[in-house]
Amino acid sequence: MYAAVTLFVFMCLTATTNAEHHQPCHSPNMTGFMSVITLKGGVKAFGAFTYDSMGKKLRFRSNESHPVNTSVGLDLLMFFEEGIFYEIDSKNQSCEKKALQCTMHPLDVPDDATFLSTLHSGSLSIEGEGLKINIWTGSMPESKGHYSMSVTMGCLPVATLYFTDSGSFLFSNTDIEMEIKDPDLLTVPSFCLGQPLEETPEGTVNSFLNEFM
Ligand SMILES: *[C@@H]1O[C@H](CO)[C@@H](O)[C@H](O)[C@H]1NC(C)=O
Ligand SMILES: *[C@@H]1O[C@H](CO)[C@@H](O)[C@H](O)[C@H]1NC(C)=O
Ligand SMILES: *[C@@H]1O[C@H](CO)[C@@H](O)[C@H](O)[C@H]1NC(C)=O
Ligand SMILES: *[C@@H]1O[C@H](CO)[C@@H](O)[C@H](O)[C@H]1NC(C)=O
Repeated sequence: MYAAVTLFVFMCLTATTNAEHHQPCHSPNMTGFMSVITLKGGVKAFGAFTYDSMGKKLRFRSNESHPVNTSVGLDLLMFFEEGIFYEIDSKNQSCEKKALQCTMHPLDVPDDATFLSTLHSGSLSIEGEGLKINIWTGSMPESKGHYSMSVTMGCLPVATLYFTDSGSFLFSNTDIEMEIKDPDLLTVPSFCLGQPLEETPEGTVNSFLNEFM
């Protein structure tokens, strides 16, 4: 894990700017695993995600005891288009419905991202031993931070690094498949229907990233 973080930071630092014109790409429908690491405190969460690229919906479920006991247990269902999300507790069949103040998330390159460079991770010359990635960067005014996001040529998100006031966070994805395996995961559970929208306290910014802070 730490080797991966170091490598990623190193890649960001050594990336050279390229003058080509690039449009931010949008990731496809996906199912996969995401790990969340804070550069101070280690592994924060590991879990499965399901993403609908057209409907802009994301489900992420982590296991609080896996892989380490500092992990947080989270079950999030986010609707970026509508600007709302649910924090689900399947154990006691309860949920909270909240407004999203920031719809940025680590599975899709923001439309206003700036292209930094194309890199080869691993080997360029050995067949099957390399991964070509595009690096995108941008700022996050709400948290006085910035991000660096790497995606494959087909726009599968490899890793996103957020640098904020509250620390640095690495989201990395593995075992991605380009399909929604279980569409039910993207529908609001029956026990959450009719849930009132909670008020957002003054000064709070709800976002996918904020759930891990
Ligand atoms: C992505 O998934 C949604 C929801 O299942 C579906 O409506 C849409 O057609 C899918 N898009 C692609 C490109 O398969
Ligand atoms: C969470 O992880 C632990 C330890 O790996 C495992 O025993 C448990 O079954 C997992 N729980 C869920 C709900 O996946
Ligand atoms: C959790 O991790 C800490 C430090 O790694 C360890 O001291 C503690 O015993 C662990 N607790 C459990 C319940 O595994
Ligand atoms: C469900 O459990 C969580 C903790 O696991 C607790 O915070 C919450 O209040 C519970 N909700 C209900 C409706 O019991």
